[in-house]
Amino acid sequence: MERDRAILDEQIAYYRARAREYDAWWLREGRFDRGDDNNQAWHADARAVEAALAAFLDARKPARALELACGTGLFTRHLAPRVGTLTAVDAAPEVITLNRARLGALPVQPPRYVEADLFAWEPEGTYDLVFMSFWLSHVPAARMDAFWATVRRALAPGGVAYVIDSAHEVTSTAVDHPPPDAQAGVVTRKLDDGSTFRIVKMFWTPAALAARLVPLGFRADLAQTPRYFIYGPVAPEPSG
Ligand SMILES: C[S@@+](CC[C@H](N)C(=O)[O-])C[C@H]1O[C@@H](n2cnc3c(N)ncnc32)[C@H](O)[C@@H]1O
Repeated sequence: MERDRAILDEQIAYYRARAREYDAWWLREGRFDRGDDNNQAWHADARAVEAALAAFLDARKPARALELACGTGLFTRHLAPRVGTLTAVDAAPEVITLNRARLGALPVQPPRYVEADLFAWEPEGTYDLVFMSFWLSHVPAARMDAFWATVRRALAPGGVAYVIDSAHEVTSTAVDHPPPDAQAGVVTRKLDDGSTFRIVKMFWTPAALAARLVPLGFRADLAQTPRYFIYGPVAPEPSG
């Protein structure tokens, strides 16, 4: 598996270098502006996953939550007000700095931040919720079993994971990125200064991901927004 180490390091380097321009993707700004129709569809899908997550958290009220690959806090800001305590992990110190600033401006208990490579990290405790947004698609196929074993170790009895990620849709990426290849596994990404990086990008459909997780002992209850995102809870089978 260490054969993919170079690409995983390049993936971390990409997000470190991208930290300050990262939110343009979510906001559909700059190179991610795909025109009014696509942007409106994106924002409608974004509001839908945010609302679904809020409803899930409000119903479930997790006391201890863990966010994997927290990034600049686009979802940390939705988690923090709805959970008891929050631990947020990311490999890129630059995005943790931005996340800390974003959360610091909100009237919430700040998360505990952990800077770590998730492929070499062990949970320090167990959690009622393990949340990941736009992270699972960066987990190589060969590391899925080990990754979900780590998620299982991080879950307290009765705990649940929650996944949000990219559906395969050509207008999701920047205008100067090649159209996403559903099968490729590795894609090339550009920054505003033109520098390029290779990263892992696995596109899952709700059905394919649910089927992939069955032998790993998880039951996924995933949905898809009209165009851009997949989302939903992933619960360990009691006997798994
Ligand atoms: C697509 S972003 C998602 C960020 C955030 N969850 C969101 O929804 O906006 C992927 C994140 O994974 C982090 N990352 C990349 N490789 C990592 C690794 N090996 N371990 C931990 N985090 C990593 C990046 O720094 C980046 O913040």
